Amino acid sequence: MHPFGPEATSAPHPVYARLREEAPVHEIQLTPTFTAWLVTRYDDARRALNDPRLSKNIAGTPIRTGSGWPVELRAAMDSHMLSNDPPEHTRLRRLVSSVFTARRIAELRPDVQRISDELLDGFAGRDEVDLIGEYAFPLPLQVICELLGVPMDDRDTFRRWSNTIIASAMAQGDALAAATSMTAYVRELVERKRAEPDAALLSALVSAADEGDRLTEDELTSLVFLLLLAGHETTVNLIGNGVYLLLSHPEQLARLRADRTLLPPAIEEFLRYESPVKTSTFRIATEPVEFGGVAVPAGAIVMVSLLSANHDPQVFADPERFDPARNDNQHLAFGHGIHYCLGAPLARLEGEIAFSGLLDRFPKLRATQPLEELMWRPGALLRGLDRLPVTLS
Ligand code: HEM
Repeated sequence: MHPFGPEATSAPHPVYARLREEAPVHEIQLTPTFTAWLVTRYDDARRALNDPRLSKNIAGTPIRTGSGWPVELRAAMDSHMLSNDPPEHTRLRRLVSSVFTARRIAELRPDVQRISDELLDGFAGRDEVDLIGEYAFPLPLQVICELLGVPMDDRDTFRRWSNTIIASAMAQGDALAAATSMTAYVRELVERKRAEPDAALLSALVSAADEGDRLTEDELTSLVFLLLLAGHETTVNLIGNGVYLLLSHPEQLARLRADRTLLPPAIEEFLRYESPVKTSTFRIATEPVEFGGVAVPAGAIVMVSLLSANHDPQVFADPERFDPARNDNQHLAFGHGIHYCLGAPLARLEGEIAFSGLLDRFPKLRATQPLEELMWRPGALLRGLDRLPVTLS
């Protein structure tokens, strides 16, 4: 059973339960030309995510060289912390952490609130909306634009490019053209922030990078791509999957409405149960590694199934039960180890504001069509719905 095939895309949990029982790691055909090893159990997953023998530097591997994209473009998109090991990873992450601080995230709260309010205000007089297209998707994109300091006038263009790049995982004409234009735009934006600094993150990064010349132009451009790609669709899926889980468990939705202190643990349960990033990004085994007695050879591509780990009955009591009050929820939805999600506090803040707004304004929120009919987007890495039509009143 293929973990990324159509059956696993629409109903993954029974598929992963079988994979977890059968073996700790499975070699799967990823594309017609290469395979990857998928780690399925929680303890192995944590170990793999923290194993220095599993390298994130995939620049010279067929995953990248086979993409058909020009080398300069790959360098401008891929010279970021998630494609690097220590010591480069440490340097890049430290530099970003020095400006992407808890304080900066706290300062974003009123912006996130305003963006959420404006989107929900736009639903006035409507009975039916697509919660993905009209709420879950635009909200985090606008937040990232706010975070980076992308000028208002450029946001539609920015959104169009990022849509195209995200929509097409493979190097097709449209995505290549969009990535090329967006790289040029990001470079120009960096120049503008250098000439006219503002209070947003990108200006802070430019000046941190310029002090002591610690960040190359490619590294700066890549970082903007990383923040956009890592911070956008993941958060779309947190909002979409969370609403989906609540609508498919009306008794739990009622419980959450009655006791709003359950919202933070409910968000952790959304992350565990329908993990927005269902599989970690690729790692390359620099030497042979072993999971539960199964040997993975040097040179192999290794991926970790975060969704499967998050349903491992060895760690989570009754893992197929959706419980917004679950305690000690040590899920791996944000990864683990040195690449642990840098944006987790921002994602949680966005989740809290997004769900509060929906719960406050729409006491009768319900699904417009049977939830089994909804389409999950195909792909190996992310888990999210294509559309989520809801009735508001
Ligand atoms: C890394 C999940 C939101 C920025 C990661 C990783 C995961 C993840 C699983 C590690 C990948 C791996 O090790 O292969 C998520 C989820 C999110 C979310 C589920 C939303 C619910 C965000 C946001 C931002 C962000 C909002 C920033 C705006 C990053 C960065 C990394 C990362 C920069 C790389 C860290 C490193 O390599 O050291 N995220 N993410 N993420 N995430 Fe997130």
